[in-house]
Amino acid sequence: MKNFWDERYAEEGHAYGTEPNTYLTQHVALFKPGQSVLVIGDGEGRNGVWLAQQGLQVLSVDQSAVGLKKAEDLAQARGVRIATEQVDLFTWQWPKDQFDFVVIIFVHFPPNLRPRLHQAALQALKLGGQIIMESFAVAQLNYNSGGPPDPALLYTLPMLEADFKGAEFLEGDERVVHLQEGKYHAGEGAVVRARVRRPG
Ligand SMILES: C[S@@+](CC[C@H](N)C(=O)[O-])C[C@H]1O[C@@H](n2cnc3c(N)ncnc32)[C@H](O)[C@@H]1O
Repeated sequence: MKNFWDERYAEEGHAYGTEPNTYLTQHVALFKPGQSVLVIGDGEGRNGVWLAQQGLQVLSVDQSAVGLKKAEDLAQARGVRIATEQVDLFTWQWPKDQFDFVVIIFVHFPPNLRPRLHQAALQALKLGGQIIMESFAVAQLNYNSGGPPDPALLYTLPMLEADFKGAEFLEGDERVVHLQEGKYHAGEGAVVRARVRRPG
């Protein structure tokens, strides 16, 4: 899979654009300068860089070195800093109890790993910290605006409710949205969104 993403990010421009994800930006009022955020699968950095522009301390992780280099270049172009780490999330020693936020935008895990990795994301939060995530829903199979074509990699809200068992769902729904995120996320798409708080 690493080569797939390296090849995509080696293309001209930015695969998902340079503007942040809409669901993420709807929560701008939550973010306070100095807070920390772990951005999972940040790719070319559009979300991590925007969070740094809000004054947050950003750690962007992804398996693609090509993507992370573009993320660093985007940060520099915007006059902010992000920390980056090339990791395979499947085998990574996830940090624990460290972040005010974890952001997961269109990162699709296989069903045998998904619950464990989502729990790891939850445990990476400080008590009271929040996950903000958007992914393609199973209903995305009816659209061709992007996302994995494999139904096993698509999500439903009940799946996320099970994965984040023990956490407080502040928001959660499935809906059709208009995606305008570079050439690979364009048009009507079915997504699942969640904002989840680690209790404490
Ligand atoms: C559809 S892209 C989304 C990129 C970014 N979140 C965005 O919305 O612009 C999915 C990203 O997840 C990353 N990813 C998928 N599986 C991963 C893994 N096991 N470890 C690290 N990164 C992974 C890919 O490298 C890719 O950058």
